[in-house]
Amino acid sequence: MKMTVCLTSDLPPGNMINADILGRTVLVANVGGEYHAMDGICSHGFADLSRGRLDGFLVECPRHYARYDVRTGKVVRGPVNAEGRAFDLRSYPVTVEEGCVTVDL
Ligand code: FES
Repeated sequence: MKMTVCLTSDLPPGNMINADILGRTVLVANVGGEYHAMDGICSHGFADLSRGRLDGFLVECPRHYARYDVRTGKVVRGPVNAEGRAFDLRSYPVTVEEGCVTVDL
């Protein structure tokens, strides 16, 4: 199911937002004009990833600094503590049409 999340003008390059879509929290990021979407809650300790840092294609969790590739949702660096590990998140196709950013869940 495709859902429009925001306008391109709402999400400039280097920024990300979380959107609640059909009961799922989805993070949408603009990396150099390319839009990507993945689950927006960290698999380690359930932190809001949109409050973390976007470094190129990598989203860094604000709590224990796990890093995910926003293109794939895969963990590229686990948390720095021993409270368990982070797991890969789901990524979602994104399309941009007429200034609208749409995620396909
Ligand atoms: S809550 Fe994200 S790394 Fe722990």
